[in-house]
Amino acid sequence: MTNAKPPHGGLVTNEMPIPVRGEAACPTPEATQALGARFAHAVDSGAVLSLEGPLGAGKTQFVKGFAAALGCAAEASSPTFTLVHEYAGGRTPVIHFDWYRLDGAEEVAGLGWEDYLAGGETLLVEWGDRFPEVIPSGAWRLRFEINGDARMVRWERTA
Ligand SMILES: Nc1ncnc2c1ncn2[C@@H]1O[C@H](COP(=O)(O)OP(=O)(O)OP(=O)(O)O)[C@@H](O)[C@H]1O
Ligand SMILES: [Mg+2]
Repeated sequence: MTNAKPPHGGLVTNEMPIPVRGEAACPTPEATQALGARFAHAVDSGAVLSLEGPLGAGKTQFVKGFAAALGCAAEASSPTFTLVHEYAGGRTPVIHFDWYRLDGAEEVAGLGWEDYLAGGETLLVEWGDRFPEVIPSGAWRLRFEINGDARMVRWERTA
């Protein structure tokens, strides 16, 4: 499959490849979860995804769909206060960060960021744009925008 466009604007399936740059309209929370599932099937284990956008934009919904698609045992939930959640039992472990409450990149380091990067787990970071200097090249950046009830997600894989 070389064409990343859905045929005739039809249903987007989980098997669709993810272009290095793209966008998706997500009219419902389930659609945002489905986009997460699509990424889960498409990206390599060990990928880093920076999830960016305002409060309530759907970043955690995306992670829910991502982790569920890999078969992780626990349902993903916001690590706003605990800062990091680990979901095991799936095809690859998923580590879910939320950097909203961190005050500096040294706090990211304090969570063991370098070890996670070296460990080959798939890393999903809400508010990753708060400390772009520690996001590695080759990471996926996804920007979530709120449009009333819908969400628009635009992404690119960094060089
Ligand atoms: N199209 C949509 N996609 C995703 N979520 C939606 C959509 N429409 C409504 N919602 C609602 O918006 C909220 C999104 O919350 P979520 O926790 O995923 O946001 P977040 O980006 O992780 O925010 P935060 O920065 O606070 O962690 C949920 O309550 C969800 O039900
Ligand atoms: Mg969240």
